[in-house]
Amino acid sequence: MQRLTPTLRHDGVGIELIALIRTILAATKEISFRVSQAELAGILGSTLDENIQGETQKKLDVVTNQLLKDMLLECEFVRAIASEEEPNSIAATPNAPFVVAFDPLDGSSNIDINGAIGTIFTIYQARGDVSDSDPKQFLQGGRKQVCAGYVLYGASTKLVMTTGGPTRGYTLDRTHGGYLLTTAEFAVPSSTQMFAINMANQRFWQAGFKAYVDDLLAGETGKRGKRFNMRWNAAMVADVHRTLEQGGLFAYPSDNRDKEKRAKLRLLYEANPMAMLIEHAGGKAYTEQTAILDIEPTDLHQRVAVILGSQDEVETCLSYLADNQ
Ligand code: AHG
Ligand code: MN
Ligand code: MN
Repeated sequence: MQRLTPTLRHDGVGIELIALIRTILAATKEISFRVSQAELAGILGSTLDENIQGETQKKLDVVTNQLLKDMLLECEFVRAIASEEEPNSIAATPNAPFVVAFDPLDGSSNIDINGAIGTIFTIYQARGDVSDSDPKQFLQGGRKQVCAGYVLYGASTKLVMTTGGPTRGYTLDRTHGGYLLTTAEFAVPSSTQMFAINMANQRFWQAGFKAYVDDLLAGETGKRGKRFNMRWNAAMVADVHRTLEQGGLFAYPSDNRDKEKRAKLRLLYEANPMAMLIEHAGGKAYTEQTAILDIEPTDLHQRVAVILGSQDEVETCLSYLADNQ
């Protein structure tokens, strides 16, 4: 099986970007080890703090953020970083070529139950027209990502990443400590019978989305004419991973639970990297109106509705939304 660096070289990735990716992955190997140690590493449970999103931080949110932050601020190829757990972006090495944004720990509600969790990251070219600490470094459209990826800490630790070519999958080999290429190219099946949606939010959805899900649930007795099945890990990394492997539709639509917070997932370090991984595997990733990668970001912690996965199913879902405006 091929190692990571030769695969990246084969894909034409430059040495500076390879070094940066390897820095991120060094942090994920440490996170993977600590996650597997759980209680033994003292990393379960909550802190008394809230992050910028007003969410209670788990100890592991804080530990993983600190690890990634420390390693990236030391990396000579990183101009600035942004994190779900940091209110503002942070300047790193002046004149360095790249900026990195990350969700250090995705799926926080799974930490204490030994469930699937992950780390999501995205890399852009640094901008020369704004200062290093300016959040505008990160307000770049998703199509400008030079690398997007996640690490899933599941039964095994998996890396899924694209550097502009195919979406590739790697498995952490604990015997030598490196990521080995185990899926040369993901291809999301175009149709599906699987969906991943938090059904508890049903009463807060807009009419079009309700109508779409009603017809999924009606199965072979409704107008879709086929039976669907549902899976929900409550960790975007794990649900997107299943979607890449087996096809399906993953959605976190907008809802009216909270007027200040119409959508849950964050554009910069959740929706954009996942959208790039899905599109480069032949799938589709939309908000309720546009391709996620076409959004012009306005805020570091901006939230967007997400509908992604098998091409035909995403299109069907969007057609229900359009018919119920
Ligand atoms: P995070 O742990 O980084 O805050 O992200 C959690 C997100 C995402 O991973 C997942 O799809 C969703 O929240 C789960 O939402 P529910 O709590 O509604 O199931
Ligand atoms: Mn997350
Ligand atoms: Mn998180």
